[in-house]
Amino acid sequence: GVADIGVTGLAVMGSNLARNFARHGYKVAVHNRSFAKTERLVAEHGDDGTFVPSESVEDFVASLSRPRVAVIMVKAGAGTDAVIDQLAAVMEPGDIIVDAGNAHFPDTIRRENALRAKGLHFVGSGVSGGEEGALLGPSIMPGGTKESYDRLGPMLEDISAKVDGVPCCTHVGPDGAGHFVKMVHNGIEYADMQLIAEAYDLLRQGLGASAAEIGEIFAEWNRGDLESFLIEITAEVLAHTDADTGNAFVDVVMDRAEQKGTGRWTVQNGLDLGVPITGIAEATFARALSGSVPQREAARGVLPANAGTWEVTDRAGFIEDVRQALYASKVVAYSQGFDQIAAASAENGWDIDRGAMARIWRGGCIIRARFLNRITEAYEENPDLQLLLAAPYFTEAVGNGVAAWRRIVAQAALNGVPTPAFASSLAYYDGVRADRLPAALVQAQRDFFGAHTYQRVDRPGTFHTLWSGDRSEEQQD
Ligand code: 6PG
Repeated sequence: GVADIGVTGLAVMGSNLARNFARHGYKVAVHNRSFAKTERLVAEHGDDGTFVPSESVEDFVASLSRPRVAVIMVKAGAGTDAVIDQLAAVMEPGDIIVDAGNAHFPDTIRRENALRAKGLHFVGSGVSGGEEGALLGPSIMPGGTKESYDRLGPMLEDISAKVDGVPCCTHVGPDGAGHFVKMVHNGIEYADMQLIAEAYDLLRQGLGASAAEIGEIFAEWNRGDLESFLIEITAEVLAHTDADTGNAFVDVVMDRAEQKGTGRWTVQNGLDLGVPITGIAEATFARALSGSVPQREAARGVLPANAGTWEVTDRAGFIEDVRQALYASKVVAYSQGFDQIAAASAENGWDIDRGAMARIWRGGCIIRARFLNRITEAYEENPDLQLLLAAPYFTEAVGNGVAAWRRIVAQAALNGVPTPAFASSLAYYDGVRADRLPAALVQAQRDFFGAHTYQRVDRPGTFHTLWSGDRSEEQQD
């Protein structure tokens, strides 16, 4: 075969990825279940570079130079298994199959295992940046063996986004590590989007400002610490007018946020690992609440608000408070996400470099942001950082905004504006920094009704109090 790399699955993401490789001078084998799509890609974008089209999987594999690299870009699920089986049947030991879809990482671990037994490398790779990113430079999070990265990595780094000349792609770790990190990326994406939405809602209700006016505030914020893709597109969305009605576009969109499931996976995994990723969880549940149509109908106009009319007097002060609360809550969401990565890395022996993850998220992906530089620096300074929030830079940045954060969460509560992500992030901040938590009482309750035992602050051992007896204490071990 002559092709350097192949792409199978030529919907928008797949064809854009193939075009990106071609534009970087690679000969790209292309294949799709229906040949018409393959033909269309070559007809419409043949001048991007060299494509080698194939009608069958056999010809596709035969068109690849050894060791072969085939990238699968199909909708995650059973379809992925079918394509993997077809490829594996004709590939040879040492060849590499890359799944660039949003697969669930346990599936990736399972697939990697099965293919390893056949001598094939299986690379589950996160790819972020949507359609445009796939074409112009995504952030790429490949898992799999080091050996596979030696062959594949340079090509992926070539087509990835660059920030200060540094590629937004690195080897994440073995088997499911790449897809795991992409999953957490999406969880953080959910949190970031929800926080921005809450900030918008506060500005709208607090100031009685129009969508367009708030769009200007976001555009202004995008020139500071909050500079990010999501803030930038928020400003654009808010400035947009619906052509049909002449109303603000955001006002004609149905207020039910959907999801394809990566946020849900992140939350489920957070529960499995026992890592409090409350920002991501609240964001995911906020989408669920928005879609709880019968419940919302049952509650609308029925549940009393018992809240005052909101009158913000210091307009500029309020806007700045919301900005600070957004920044602080955002740091919490990232800090929690990086804790989740650390926990999964330890559990699975992945050895993930968290600073490197922040580095490859600086460009190309949906959560790309200026502030990721600060995260990379924090982990470079201390790779074993226990808590991102407690890195000196963030302690100071968040510390400066705590008072504003409290004012915003308190005013939101007083005025009946839901801010689940802002409020839970502040609760996390106060919880994680507390000298003592009421968890002591929970342990005592557990011991009372279930003899679940407790530990004492003053001496080692496990204890139980005879609650239904004379309330004397027994040492268990
Ligand atoms: C990305 C996005 C991408 C996609 C999500 C949207 O990194 O490019 O995260 O993966 O837009 O699947 O997720 P929901 O449909 O769940 O909101």
